[in-house]
Amino acid sequence: MHLALRAGGPKNAEMSISAAAVRLPLRLGDGDRAVAALLAALELRHPGTCRHAERVADLALNLTSIASPELALQEGLGHAYLLHDIGKIGIPDAILLKPDRLTPSEMRVVRRHPRLGEDLVRRLRFLSPLVRDVVGCHHERWDGCGYPRQLAGPNIPLAARIFAVVDAFDAMTHLRPYREPVAAEDALAEVERCSGTQFDPSVVAAFLSMVGVARRVAPTPRGDLLRPA
Ligand SMILES: [Fe+2]
Repeated sequence: MHLALRAGGPKNAEMSISAAAVRLPLRLGDGDRAVAALLAALELRHPGTCRHAERVADLALNLTSIASPELALQEGLGHAYLLHDIGKIGIPDAILLKPDRLTPSEMRVVRRHPRLGEDLVRRLRFLSPLVRDVVGCHHERWDGCGYPRQLAGPNIPLAARIFAVVDAFDAMTHLRPYREPVAAEDALAEVERCSGTQFDPSVVAAFLSMVGVARRVAPTPRGDLLRPA
């Protein structure tokens, strides 16, 4: 698998990696190298993860530029979005690769991944604090019913609030082993329905405005409404 990795926000260079054998230009920094190596390791554990990471990172960067132009300029945001699920590297194969719906006890194991990831990226001190924010908080909910810390409202880092909307939309609109993808329009309706409970209302408003622009520019078929260019 080949991954085009747009790392660290708009000011950083683009790089390409093979998930099986990482080959990086020498001019890349420690952060870029660490991110590429971590993603390659996760891809080996869970094939397809890099494709998902790249897709949601692109979309989340686009949404950030609308929801918070100041945040979009910060170094390390691309790294944060790409590494959001790096903690899954610590989930046992029997659960990580299970083709069927997870049991409640298996779900509790999967829900360890934000803390596992946070512990991992905290050791890489050259990574932006944004990475820890997104890795550790991307499953928190605006109403305080998320995990792992049950943070609520603005106590959840903004980058994690933005990412949560994109991650949920992507999860709904792409195939899972145990269910068909939801049509993009239905997924958007669900995101809107969860504004103020699961998601930050201001982020949902920005997401819907971005979709409105995408609709006007290029009407697209089912599931492709927000496919990044
Ligand atoms: Fe996750």
